Amino acid sequence: MDIDTSTLFAPIVINGHAVKNRLSVAPMTRVTATQDGRATETMTRYYERFARGGFGTVSTEGIYTDQAFAQGYIHQPGMTDEAQSNSWKPIVSGIKAHGAFAIAQMMHAGAISQGNRFRDGTVGPSAIQPKGKQMTFYHGKDRYVLPAAMTEEQIADAINGFAESAGRAIEIAGFDAVEIHGANGYLLDQFMTDYANIRTDEWGGATENRVRLTLETFKAVRARVGAKVPVGVRISQGKVNDFDHKWAGAERDAEIIFGSLAEAGADFIHVTEYEAWKPAFPSGGPSLMQLAKRYAPKAAVLANGSLHKVEQALAALDDGADIVTIGRGALANPDFPRRLSEHVALRDFDPTILGPIANVKETELAM
Ligand SMILES: Cc1cc2nc3c(=O)[nH]c(=O)nc-3n(C[C@H](O)[C@H](O)[C@H](O)COP(=O)(O)O)c2cc1C
Repeated sequence: MDIDTSTLFAPIVINGHAVKNRLSVAPMTRVTATQDGRATETMTRYYERFARGGFGTVSTEGIYTDQAFAQGYIHQPGMTDEAQSNSWKPIVSGIKAHGAFAIAQMMHAGAISQGNRFRDGTVGPSAIQPKGKQMTFYHGKDRYVLPAAMTEEQIADAINGFAESAGRAIEIAGFDAVEIHGANGYLLDQFMTDYANIRTDEWGGATENRVRLTLETFKAVRARVGAKVPVGVRISQGKVNDFDHKWAGAERDAEIIFGSLAEAGADFIHVTEYEAWKPAFPSGGPSLMQLAKRYAPKAAVLANGSLHKVEQALAALDDGADIVTIGRGALANPDFPRRLSEHVALRDFDPTILGPIANVKETELAM
């Protein structure tokens, strides 16, 4: 491998915080917490390897944000009380020990929750059967249950859960930054999605209304953690239960979504597509990362989607991305950055790591 990868190793500053390079681990749910949502010693070892391997940023998996409807998976970690928040401390220390930047991803599963020890039913924007099937590798089976449409009070509670959990992530666990999970079919994305949200109040209808919950969540998190903590939002079109979804408003929707996040003061926007460099819409034209940069020029753009292909990762930096985030490539190569800088071949991703259940395996920790 003799391509020049130096641009991937240039530092960047996000809201006053120095990040040592452009390579980040993407958030990945691994259902390895205790049954009551505390992070485990296995998780500490799992996350530490990415930082030791040279990633400038390590993002956690989606962490549930309240003790009502947020939890999505059995053995998913939470940030909803003192014990859960304290359990993240060794993970954050392990990440920071190697000079990496630690991001906590805050997630509310909404209508596609498939395992919640606090509630039996699920909630979402509208009482509409979610597409797709539960994920077996996260202990799911069959279809998702029919959610109840959220009341105003439940919406306020969900926003508050994000804000309080973000506060605990920063103040107790010691994370450097928080990412609000607004993507991939979870609660905030359900509100954004035309067919999942048929509300006729201020939370539904036009794109400006459908993005409101993401914006209000962002504002509440910002108010809770303060101006100096980097806060970002992850955005996608595709979903875990509907891979090929596209925004009906195409670039105009991108303008509304990214533009309003920029106006609200998002420090970073994390966009994900199956292949990050492809045109965002069937008609061709710019990719989602290009659109994020176009409409949120001051936010750092984190781009995700098959960017373990190094040529594509380098091209992404020319195409509007400030940081590339790597999922499967990082599972296969927890030392991905080190391999690049030392010209060691990358390993291919082996999907059997994630089966039959997607929990962290001892064989990975030995890599
Ligand atoms: C096992 C697994 C778990 C994931 N869990 C999350 C998650 O908790 N939050 C999230 O935003 N994305 C999650 N993703 C999506 C990844 O962040 C990423 O978007 C996806 O793997 C595509 O990037 P890649 O091509 O680099 O693998 C997960 C992906 C995998 C493979």
